[in-house]
Amino acid sequence: MEGLLRAALPAGALAAAAVFASLAATPASAQKFPEFPDARLKQGRTIWLGTCEACHANDVAGAPLVTNKSAWAPRLAKGKDALYKSALGGLTGPKGTQMPPRGGNDKLTDDQVKAAVDYMAAIVK
Ligand code: HEC
Repeated sequence: MEGLLRAALPAGALAAAAVFASLAATPASAQKFPEFPDARLKQGRTIWLGTCEACHANDVAGAPLVTNKSAWAPRLAKGKDALYKSALGGLTGPKGTQMPPRGGNDKLTDDQVKAAVDYMAAIVK
C-alpha cells in the first residue's frame, strides 16, 4: 500500500500526508502551537508543552501569553541570555507576578529549560 501510494502521488502530496498523519497523532490541545523542523526547537516544544504551556498559554498566573506579541517584545529585546537567566532562576515582576525557577520543574536540565525558552521565543517573535 505504502509503495503504491508512493508511486501514484507526487512528493508534495506525500509530505502533506505525512504532516497530516503526525498532526492526527498529537493531542488536540497541542495542535495550535507551531512545530518547526529544527531539532532544537522540536525538543524545546516538547518541554514547553510539558512544563511551560500551563502558564504561558493560559491566563492564570499573569505570565506573558504566547498569543500576546506586544507583551513579549520588550522581553525579547533584553536578549536570549537574560531570558535564559529568568527561566532558570525565576523572576518576580513589578506587579508581583512570578516566574518560578525552571517553571517549577526541577527535573529539567539547564539545556532543556533553554530549549523551551528558544521555542517560546520562536513562536512569540
Ligand atoms: C507557574 C506559572 C509559570 C510557569 C509554569 C512558567 N512560567 Fe515563565 N513566566 C511566568 C510569569 C508569571 C512570568 C512573568 C514574570 C514577570 O512578571 O516578569 C514569566 C516569564 C517568563 C519569561 C520572560 C522572562 C523575562 O526576563 O522577561 C520567560 C523567558 C519564561 N517565563 C520562560 C518559561 C519557561 C521556559 C517555562 C517552562 C520551563 C516557564 N516559563 C514556565 C510564569 C510561569
